[in-house]
Amino acid sequence: MPQSNLVMTKNWTPDSWRACEARQLPAYPDASALAAVESQLRSYPPLVFAGEARDLTERLASVAAGNAFLLQGGDCAESFAEFHPNTIRDTFRVLLQMAVTLTFASKMPVVKVGRMAGQFAKPRSGDFEEIDGVSLPSYRGDNVNDIEFTATARTPDPQRMVRGYLQMAATLNLLRAFASGGYANLHQVHKWNLDFAARSPWADQYALLADRIGEALDFMAAIGLSPDTVPQLKATSFFTSHEALLLGFEEAMTRQDSLTGDWYDTSAHMLWIGDRTRFAGSAHVEFLRGVGNPLGLKCGPSLEADDLLRLIDTLNPGNVPGRLTLITRFGHDKVDQHLPRLIRAVQREGRYVVWSCDPMHGNTIKAAGGLKTRPFDRILSEVKGFFAIHRAEGSHAGGIHLEMTGQDVTECTGGAVAISDEGLASRYQTQCDPRLNASQSLEMAFLIAEALKAERDAIASACAA
Ligand code: PEP
Ligand code: CO
Repeated sequence: MPQSNLVMTKNWTPDSWRACEARQLPAYPDASALAAVESQLRSYPPLVFAGEARDLTERLASVAAGNAFLLQGGDCAESFAEFHPNTIRDTFRVLLQMAVTLTFASKMPVVKVGRMAGQFAKPRSGDFEEIDGVSLPSYRGDNVNDIEFTATARTPDPQRMVRGYLQMAATLNLLRAFASGGYANLHQVHKWNLDFAARSPWADQYALLADRIGEALDFMAAIGLSPDTVPQLKATSFFTSHEALLLGFEEAMTRQDSLTGDWYDTSAHMLWIGDRTRFAGSAHVEFLRGVGNPLGLKCGPSLEADDLLRLIDTLNPGNVPGRLTLITRFGHDKVDQHLPRLIRAVQREGRYVVWSCDPMHGNTIKAAGGLKTRPFDRILSEVKGFFAIHRAEGSHAGGIHLEMTGQDVTECTGGAVAISDEGLASRYQTQCDPRLNASQSLEMAFLIAEALKAERDAIASACAA
């Protein structure tokens, strides 16, 4: 019998969140149209299986124990307009490149989770957006309304959830094919070098690394270990995740697992709660506490240690390792102030968590031309702070959570192929927050790899002493 993530969950039903305070949900003009779509979605096939979510939980348990690393990344918001096989392939490919880079440095398995195949609903700081004296509902993600600034486009339309579901299904199908159909075969490691990443100074580093992996594979083949005998060389595991924001949609995708009797949100393997919806009494916390999927919880500067411990009690009362990932997002100048107090509280109470760093959401600024951006140096500085603090606290810096794309966009400034404030406008394509482009993502992976290697060396010398 598989282990349940839901030890001691009481008084929960898939719709018990409806009695709680739900922030960030759209105001649909027609409640019966909404109910009709939700009931239609309830009859649609699940996108993932409970067993896959449990598999991810086990891998994350290994991260929590300090024996693996979590790489989670993808768009801030996926869109209907950018739905294209090349977009999916390119993000998947950069994630693979990053994962081999991190695996090679850390000598640990890297758990790969995409912000893909479902990242369609966005929390916003205001319910309305005003342009030139006209006020319209804020854009809340393609599952809810359209980004175009007209009254019709901005009116929440429940039919968009059906389109979202279909795009999720097709995206997941392609990701599964990429992961297991030969594309992720380690012998392809050279071919994953993207054309434009090849112009980046880090592409040479990657080519060297690919050579070394190639040599290791040749050696293994010589002693009889080939993709035919070792399936890990032929395929990889890849999981999906998104913010479980649009609760009506998530509830409709929630099904009871026949093996354990537990409920799973079958819209993705992993779901997370955003920084704006983790308050006491939140409908989002109520909903997610009852599903068996591994969960993420965004932790920003306003989170008190006591509130975090209460949230951990609610979301993981059985203290199941791998169930809960704390995704910290303080900002490069605040990580020193906030991360240590949370780590200490969690250690004091003996709670098993995965610590992951989102260096994106605390480092958003307005560039000279008015576009939202994130300087590469600030992103890196938060990552470095995260590693240093975990090392000082004797805790495992377990993962990284990035907004990134395989496309050659210009949304974050800096990096080795330096993007300036003026250069941002040339290919600024995000629907929401600025993402690292492919070369910046690969560069980030190499810089994180150095930190992981330092962590490994420190542990080795402590053990030898
Ligand atoms: C996000 O991950 O896109 C997001 C909105 O993050 P946060 O909840 O941490 O602000
Ligand atoms: Co974002």
